[in-house]
Amino acid sequence: MIFLICFIKRGVKVDRPTPIDFNQKTSTPDWEAETMFGCMPPRDVLLTVGNEILEATMSYRCRWFEYLCYRPLLQEYYNQDPNMRHESAPKPRLTDKDYRKDYLSDKIGIQKRLEWTEDKFFVTTEEEPLFDAADVLRFGKDLVVQHGFTTNLKGIDWLKRHYKDHRVHAVNFPGDPYPIHIDATFTPIKEGLIINNPQRRLPIEQRKLFEDNGWEIVDSAQPAHNEPPPLCYSSTWLSMNVLVLDPKTVCVEKSEVYQQEQLDKLGMEVVPVELRDAYAFGGGLHCCTADVYREGTLKDYFPKQ
Ligand code: ALA
Repeated sequence: MIFLICFIKRGVKVDRPTPIDFNQKTSTPDWEAETMFGCMPPRDVLLTVGNEILEATMSYRCRWFEYLCYRPLLQEYYNQDPNMRHESAPKPRLTDKDYRKDYLSDKIGIQKRLEWTEDKFFVTTEEEPLFDAADVLRFGKDLVVQHGFTTNLKGIDWLKRHYKDHRVHAVNFPGDPYPIHIDATFTPIKEGLIINNPQRRLPIEQRKLFEDNGWEIVDSAQPAHNEPPPLCYSSTWLSMNVLVLDPKTVCVEKSEVYQQEQLDKLGMEVVPVELRDAYAFGGGLHCCTADVYREGTLKDYFPKQ
């Protein structure tokens, strides 16, 4: 609640989704899941590009129905704004063909996982298009998408075909043994500046787009914690899961003092927001928000391609 008050004070209108009973069993003709996931990270499900809000396919069975939490709001936006477009990507079947068997066995060590990430061998297969919205970063005319566990190449191809007026770029981060969502790995802060997780650096050959257009990629500060809080399945790098409000203002979790200090030195006004106790519900400040309306124009940040 505190973080909502902080946003409202800065002129942000906050809408909240409608929870459903997440303890219920869900099923389709292809599978059954014992429980659902929740509706804490709207960023994972909703992708706003221009006047369109797209519901991602999602790639976990327990998240297949998560879009239902956002339907009341989407319906409201659709009714209020005749230019708003509500889209839903094709619901995937998520049969066993979508997943590599035994990929999640405890016996697989981190070293093996890092090799697999380097080889782009992920838990999801190329059976059908899959993507989570939190694997996508928006830079005006360009969309940068992480290929990993939750987004496959077919998902990226689907995004390319869908966003005809945009350029879609696939990236991957070899140092991440569990590449799920891009927002604790590669975080744009303002025009020309990105912070990158120093354990998951963007490979040299994928930097061209940024370098050719004068963007700087700097290592992010270290997290303030050695481990995530109890029941949190994300890494300590939620330190970089910051929410940029405007080109000068960024919200950073209150205990992440190193990240705050770095962004302050990089010229941002830093707003500390207490959220660590909510990490167990699915992520940090960037994850738990999804901007649906922003002022500004569609800019071309990367004219040299
Ligand atoms: N998958 C991201 C991390 O935990 C959120 O680093």
